[in-house]
Formats: sequence, C-alpha cells, structure tokens
Amino acid sequence: MIEHVQLCIREVIQETSDSKTFIFENKDLNYQAGQFLTFLIPSGISTIRRAYSFCTAPQVDEYPAVTVKRVANGAGSRYILENWKPGDWVQCIKASGKFTLSKENVSEIVLFAAGSGIVPLLSIMKQALHDQSIKKIHLFYSNRSANSTIFRKKILKLEAHYPEKLKVTWFFSDSFNIREGRINADFVDSYFTNKILSQKDLVHVFACGPESFMYLAEVRTLYAGVPSENYHQEVFFREDNPNHKPHAFKEGNFDVEIEKDGKTYSFQVPGDRTILSQAIKNNIPIAWSCSSGRCSTCMLKLLEGKVYLSRNETLTDKDLSKGFVLTCTAYPEEGPIILKSDLF
Ligand code: FES
Repeated sequence: MIEHVQLCIREVIQETSDSKTFIFENKDLNYQAGQFLTFLIPSGISTIRRAYSFCTAPQVDEYPAVTVKRVANGAGSRYILENWKPGDWVQCIKASGKFTLSKENVSEIVLFAAGSGIVPLLSIMKQALHDQSIKKIHLFYSNRSANSTIFRKKILKLEAHYPEKLKVTWFFSDSFNIREGRINADFVDSYFTNKILSQKDLVHVFACGPESFMYLAEVRTLYAGVPSENYHQEVFFREDNPNHKPHAFKEGNFDVEIEKDGKTYSFQVPGDRTILSQAIKNNIPIAWSCSSGRCSTCMLKLLEGKVYLSRNETLTDKDLSKGFVLTCTAYPEEGPIILKSDLF
C-alpha cells in the first residue's frame, strides 16, 4: 500500500499577501529537513497532487509545517490558500525528496534561494544552524521586493541570533542599486574566491528557484571547484526544458516486475508508456508526485533490464550509476525489467 498520511491543521500563518504557512498537529510525522509532502487535493470529480516543501526542521521545530505560495492559474495553491483552515484534516503521501543535508563531511553550506524557493532552504538552514559540525552558512536570497519576501523577518532574526554562523545577502529587483538587484556571476565568483573558509570538498551548495537562477548557481559552483556531488537543487518551478529529449519508443510490450514491501508485482508495459503510468493502471502502489521527472518521489532501483528516462531533473550521476530510475519518465527499452522499491 502507498502510505497515505492524514494531517490536522493546527495553525495558519499569512506570510505575504500570496503565501501562507500551514502548521500541522502531527508532531511525530517522519521527515527530513528539505523534503516535501505531496498533498491530494480535490478538483472537480478527481484529485490532483501538489508537492509543498517543509519550512520546518524536525530537530528544531516542535510541529511540522509547509508553506504554500499562490501560483498564477495554479488550481492546487488556489484551493489550499482559499480553503484550508485550522482544524481541517488533509491527506498527503509520506514525506519524500532527496534535497536534504548530509550528516557527514559538511562544514560550510551556501544556499541560493529565489522567491518561494526559500521554503526548503529555510528548513535546511534551520537544520544546519542546529548542527554543531556545520561552521558557516551563507544565504543568497533574491526577491522582487522586501515586502514580497517570504520569511524576511524570521531570517533577520536568525541572522541576529547566529551572527558568527549565518550571513544573508539580500537581492531585491526593485532596488535602485543594480548590484543589489540581481544575483550575478561576478558576485558569486568573488564570493567563492574570497569568502569560503573550508576546503571545497566540505562545502555543500543548495539552490531552489527558477531554472535560469539555478543554472547560474550550478555553473558558478562548479566553476569555483566545488565537487558536482556537493551541488543540490530542488526543481518545482515549471518551465519548458530545452533539454527534454525526443525519443523513438521501442515497439512491443515489456515484462516488468516491481518488488515492494516483500511483494512482487508483475505487469506489462508497452514501449510508448512509462512504467509509472502502467503501474497506476494496474493498481500497483507506487508513490508519485510531479509525474515529470522533477521530484524523485517515484524513484526505484533498476536491478535488471534497461529503461530510457525522457526527463530527469533530480537524480545525480551517482544515483544513476547506482541504478536509480524515475518511473514517471522511464520507458522500457530491454526486458525483463526488474525494479525494487526498498532502496537503502
Ligand atoms: S513523480 Fe516526481 S520524479 Fe517521478
């Protein structure tokens, strides 16, 4: 069975004019800083799924919470912001996501946030502030204006509370000073050259924001000599991806087996279908969220066979070399295909 979780809303906080934080009563919810919950939201006669990141960290905050920002024409965020209130019960899938802080070999972290990309980064920042082995945190946070900035007061307070450990650089695009308006490559390069204290392999970089923003963060991080496995990004912003490759599908049906919770599910997948879409059709309980290769909720380990991933914006080269695949974008190429869900 997919683990569905019922959460009771304890409190709702209006963060900005278009974003709210929902705090849940469920103190014992199992999650890691930086992860997200996928909510099942009624929409007409069906249900839609929307993922929202935690803004809390389990070892720091008593109650778990997510923050939701209104997305233009977004059915999920509109429903949540207009309807959810204290005392309501809501349904989600158990916490997932790989955008988390490793416990080893990290002495310094750099966070790049734009707009609501701050939500998982605040969660990671709280965890890192709590973690004694992390000595320094630098947040670069970019927004339209101070007024539209989510968690501005909270972050200023944290910075005042941890003056030695946390430094924040704000960017507001309505600023008259062009250097303070937009994060740019020169600024980031000079930061990596002059301000990083640790050896580069002990620095971890986390980015969340629009794709062009994360592209800048990634390129400058790698240019600075930080190992690629130390760069982490969370993709929730929908933009057309020019790297989305067209694919000639294999003909015929492929035998697929999924081992999950001690059970084996066998079914067939046509070459032009994803493994997830056929699994859903066959009522096989695989958890999923974005259904477009961005979040890793549907990740399984490939033990045998070959698949083609039409889109992958979350698995690293290391994940791929270990055999992890995203079933929502995995098309069968060579069977039989055997996948396992107990990953670790
Ligand atoms: S469901 Fe998000 S990557 Fe597959």
